Amino acid sequence: MSRLAVILLGPPGAGKGTQGRQLSSEFGYPSISTGDILREAVRNQTDLGKEARQHMDKGGLVPDGLVDAIVRDRLTRADCRRGFILDGYPRTVNQAEFLRREYAGEGMQFLAIGVQVRDEVLVKRLTGRRSCPQCGRIYHVDTSPSRKGDCCEECDSALIQRKDDTVEVVRERLQVYHQSTRPLIQYYRDSGAYAEIPGEGSVEDIYRSLRSVVQEQIAGRSS
Ligand code: AP5
Repeated sequence: MSRLAVILLGPPGAGKGTQGRQLSSEFGYPSISTGDILREAVRNQTDLGKEARQHMDKGGLVPDGLVDAIVRDRLTRADCRRGFILDGYPRTVNQAEFLRREYAGEGMQFLAIGVQVRDEVLVKRLTGRRSCPQCGRIYHVDTSPSRKGDCCEECDSALIQRKDDTVEVVRERLQVYHQSTRPLIQYYRDSGAYAEIPGEGSVEDIYRSLRSVVQEQIAGRSS
């Protein structure tokens, strides 16, 4: 049976993490966030973390070679056997080419899903985001606050604000997205593996659209 790689493609703050977690719990594919893996390396002060931090704090991209190696390593784990969800990777055409080459001839189905949100909405979402460093749950101070105030509802850890969620760094991240990542929409369109969903509206409505695109792909695959 072929495997499915769902690629959540969208600007910073589009809701890739929020939606990816839900998709993962319903469909059983692991949701792999390169941002989360890099942040863990930064916290642990590994060599990778030290190098990555210089780029992340300024809102730039970590060099392709480093991120490709992380992804290659993560995708060899047993939980990826049936497929996986990628949140935040690929982010450049070179990364997309790397991913394609990794699975060439293996019957991997790719489905890139573009989540569309206007820049001004993204800035509000990111500057109000709070996240749990322990379990990864994502909150927003206005639209989805924790019922436990500054602590995570699920594991009671103190919530944090990401260093790259300041207005200045968010603006830079958006610029980097438009320049380096947006071209992937055309890349996946050209390969017939692209679907688009609106990213504004309630988390539940967006999830319904996302779910139906994934279900259609799975149904098409097995028919
Ligand atoms: P990464 O962690 O991947 O960040 P990002 O892509 O910028 O995306 P975010 O995590 O900020 O947003 P999201 O789309 O997941 O939104 P979320 O669900 O949290 O990358 C960080 C950095 O790591 C990069 O800048 C780069 O330096 C480096 N990096 C990572 N991958 C790399 C790669 N492949 N190559 C090179 N460098 C890489 O939601 C955001 C907020 O909005 C939350 O508060 C949430 O509650 C709220 N929200 C979500 N949905 C809704 C809704 N429908 N309505 C209202 N609010 C909502």
